[in-house]
Amino acid sequence: MGIVVNNLPRIREECEVLHISDRQLREIMKRLHQALLDGLGKDTHAKSIVKCWLTYIQDLPNGKERGKFLALDLGGTNFRVLIINLGANHFDMQSKIYAIPNHIMTGSGVDLFDHIAECLANFMKEHNVYEERLALGFTFSFPLKQIGLTKGILERWTKGFSCSGVVGEDVVQGLKDAIARRGDVQIDICAILNDTTGTLMSCAWKNHNCKIGLIVGTGSNACYVEKTENCELFDGEPGKENLLINTEWGAFGDDGALDFVRTEFDNEVDVSSINPGKQVQEKMISGMYMGELVRLALVKFTRMGLLFGGQGSDLLFQRGSFYTKYVSEIESDKQGDFTSCMEVLEELGLSHATEADMAAVRHVCECVSRRAAHLVSAGIATLLNKMDEPKVTVGIDGSVYRFHPHFHTLMCEKISQLVRPGLQFDLMLSEDGSGRGAALVAAVACRQSQQGV
Ligand code: GLC
Repeated sequence: MGIVVNNLPRIREECEVLHISDRQLREIMKRLHQALLDGLGKDTHAKSIVKCWLTYIQDLPNGKERGKFLALDLGGTNFRVLIINLGANHFDMQSKIYAIPNHIMTGSGVDLFDHIAECLANFMKEHNVYEERLALGFTFSFPLKQIGLTKGILERWTKGFSCSGVVGEDVVQGLKDAIARRGDVQIDICAILNDTTGTLMSCAWKNHNCKIGLIVGTGSNACYVEKTENCELFDGEPGKENLLINTEWGAFGDDGALDFVRTEFDNEVDVSSINPGKQVQEKMISGMYMGELVRLALVKFTRMGLLFGGQGSDLLFQRGSFYTKYVSEIESDKQGDFTSCMEVLEELGLSHATEADMAAVRHVCECVSRRAAHLVSAGIATLLNKMDEPKVTVGIDGSVYRFHPHFHTLMCEKISQLVRPGLQFDLMLSEDGSGRGAALVAAVACRQSQQGV
């Protein structure tokens, strides 16, 4: 038998680059705070990296919203159509997931909207509302410069989309045109909103302290309640005290603000993405990239001879083969147990992995996911400090937060350390944020138009 070398200490050392110290996190908070102020400021907005888009949503739901609404949810891994019945203290919701084939994600905008309109019409048939005229809330989870509640110009695509002819255009109009081209269904688009906004709204329906909406899923972003007087670009109805701001913080770092903590793995993920140089912070955090970050580290350690006896597999060396869900699965194993880890490694053609290899793989996963949780926490603590309210609930959705076994705990711990003493917060998992939230925004809009507000 050969000499068994314990490579774990070396691997731990190599992984140190993925550790962000509290001092560095506080520096990140300072920079993010400035970026948020730039986004809100009249003279600084145009050049600001973090855009802080106005949402034109000023009223949170009050629980009295009633009726039947349609919702569309576009922007994660799936595209969904929903029908929601809001009643007194309950809601009833049915939904269907539709695939967006890759050729549509990267094809033309007209084809994308035609595909959505077709799914909508089919859904209405299946749910026996084909003949009805219904209001619709449209969750469109990309950076949108809103000009009103029903008008929004796409600033840039993110998360692997690149449909042509949409950037710089009004997305609501794009969908209206596609519905009109069909001519068979009657739909009033009452609101367009971000998934963070939907999440905030759907949590606020139950919990009136909910003033931040967060997504840690395919992408990462947050929205929050800001005082209207701080929103220098607001030109809507005066008189309302608050406004919801969609920060689009995924773009934070696009000017190099995060370079002092980025690693070679981040750089590689970025250069081989569809949008190099863009969404830098998102690429360090979200589900679209987390698995790939882990894979790149594993590849490096294998090439250094520190893992798998220096022997990888075709799949390990293939981009995108390490799914983010693997990170959650591997970290769900109890300490010392490697059942899921072994399954994942077998799937990747690495059944020759030893227990020491598995411990190392788990360590890499922990470093990458912990860093993501800490970066998100720095963001949330920045918002909490800025809002300076005694108690704020953060409504959260997204596959990473939902399925990672420790993300919630890591966030609670880190936010407590970073937030100004005396400010209280709690983290609330949203029940289907983006879908129900879209219907609620549509319902609030209808409530107001019925009341003539
Ligand atoms: C991306 C989008 C943003 C969205 C987030 C989460 O960052 O640009 O609009 O909220 O992903 O889905």
